[in-house]
Amino acid sequence: MQTIFSGIQPSGTLTLGNYLGAMQQFVQLQDENNCYFCVVDQHAITVPQDPKELRHNIRSLAALYLASGIDPEKSTLFIQSEVAAHASLAWLIQTSTYVGELERMTQYKDKSAGKESVSSALFTYPALMVADILLYQTDLVPVGEDQKQHLELTRDVAQRFNNRFGDVFTVPEIRIPKVGARIMSLQDPTKKMSKSDTNERGFISLLDEPKKIEKKIKSAVTDSEGIVKYDVKNKPGVSNLLSILSVCTGETLEALEQKYEGQGYGVFKSDVATAVIDLLTPIQERYHELINSSKLDEILDQGAVKATEVANQTYLHAKNAMGLGRK
Ligand code: TYM
Repeated sequence: MQTIFSGIQPSGTLTLGNYLGAMQQFVQLQDENNCYFCVVDQHAITVPQDPKELRHNIRSLAALYLASGIDPEKSTLFIQSEVAAHASLAWLIQTSTYVGELERMTQYKDKSAGKESVSSALFTYPALMVADILLYQTDLVPVGEDQKQHLELTRDVAQRFNNRFGDVFTVPEIRIPKVGARIMSLQDPTKKMSKSDTNERGFISLLDEPKKIEKKIKSAVTDSEGIVKYDVKNKPGVSNLLSILSVCTGETLEALEQKYEGQGYGVFKSDVATAVIDLLTPIQERYHELINSSKLDEILDQGAVKATEVANQTYLHAKNAMGLGRK
């Protein structure tokens, strides 16, 4: 049994990309592992958030974790800001993280590009992510491809800290799915699908109504060849839809290419829409049952207690190893 940690930011409603790249892996992993899944609200405030909206998004994300199949009997589900050790360890971690490393982070470069006032938290954000992971002595971190660089940093910093202060942290491995690790925008398939996209037609929200999903997929950018083939370089739009269909149905890319041979894009797109709707409908039903329930609060309260217990132990260990405090 391995210890697993992963987190998702409550910065808008989850997209199909978050689900296929991350959440689906979480659900599969929880049966045989010791899993911690986190609503990383302290990461969300690295860019400006409306407090009321943030509150709503935190609760909504917690409900979506459960609606997607995270089982509180098997996994610990909690909110980052309710476990104080995350921010505390992040400070210690910053002392082992170099400015040059943070400057190289592509996510920082993307999010800060062209902006006048960028918070220092956006810059040091990866140190908080390192702390999130190391607090639970995590063996494996399931994420989408865009988090790879942050995970490599996590391993480097953990090793550096251990070399300096003794064996405090487990050095985690990264787990990226073979298909679905990078779901692209439906409108610009060279860009990743993102909940912060200003063009709503570029992403599918997990809470989109069936009609909206159908419309978005039908208007997804493809090409004029009419050939359903997986070729990311030359056919990014079609390849993206193929990946979505493959992860939703469990069929391989090759089997799907054969199935749609000589059929053009009409049937193909309509099947992608049906597969996505079939996947999301039961999740949406469970979500609406949970969102206003007291059960959701109970689960999150229990999660915070359990996570705090484990996180505090590691934090104390790290703090002592560095010589902070009196004992
Ligand atoms: P976030 O909130 O941007 O995304 C959450 C998860 O969804 C994956 N993902 C995608 N996968 C495939 N295709 C896409 N288009 C797509 N968009 C997002 C992400 O790779 C991620 O796994 N920094 C992290 C949150 C975080 C975290 C952590 C993750 C904070 N602490 C510790 C793991 C461990 C983030 O912003 O993810």
